[in-house]
Amino acid sequence: MKTTTLTLRKLKGQRPIVATTAYDVITARLAAEAGVDVILVGDSVGNTLLGFDSTLPVTLDMMAHHTAAVARARPDALVAADVPFGEAHFDYERVLAGCQRLMQQSGAEAVKIEGGARLAPLMARLTGAGVPVWGHIGLEPQQVRVLGRYRKFGVDPAEAERLLADALALEKAGCFALLLEMTEPNLARTITETLKIPTIGIGSGPDCDGQILVSTDLLGLNPEAMPGFARAFAAVGEETKKGFAAYVAAVRARKYPK
Ligand code: KIV
Repeated sequence: MKTTTLTLRKLKGQRPIVATTAYDVITARLAAEAGVDVILVGDSVGNTLLGFDSTLPVTLDMMAHHTAAVARARPDALVAADVPFGEAHFDYERVLAGCQRLMQQSGAEAVKIEGGARLAPLMARLTGAGVPVWGHIGLEPQQVRVLGRYRKFGVDPAEAERLLADALALEKAGCFALLLEMTEPNLARTITETLKIPTIGIGSGPDCDGQILVSTDLLGLNPEAMPGFARAFAAVGEETKKGFAAYVAAVRARKYPK
């Protein structure tokens, strides 16, 4: 059955929501067949598949391209697309046009936007226009050049208070869910208990309403680049290398083709 934003809101308090990223049709199909609830076409495509060292070089064109590939899998999972670096900070008409492109042309069913209370008025207008918005606070990877590094958020009491206020502002703005990235686990639990909308955590402890892991991390595609909180549930990188090596050996030994 197709997962919608309503399904996700109803799952809060019932069972954990499972989300992952995908950037292509095959991964999206496999993730959906395995029962994943939400597929995020993350701007993490920049560091995971495109060879950049952050998400900053990822453009709306790239997001549109990868989102369309994922949507072609026609998964039962909800397909959400990231609004990439800078885009959410233009005027409302341009942001709406970007979201419209991701939804109408690429097939996204929701968008994810990094940013707290300062973006709540924009998110309220978008949801009013029919764009389902998934908020994203805690570590916002698009801020990495300002931050200087990726770090945990909400350990400092003043920062924790600000994050709780951000969470409440985004819920009030109509976000259907909130992603908490690298948020101190006790704060993530407090936010989860305070909000009526589901929280989806990454590196934020076990008490969120759901979890998201980047697909290349959970599949063990590139174990050297894996963050400390992630877990590889398969060794696809090793298996892939074995497959290529077997092919190389078979061709060189004139065993393939027969
Ligand atoms: O782009 C991405 O993969 C993300 C992660 C935090 C899931 O936003």
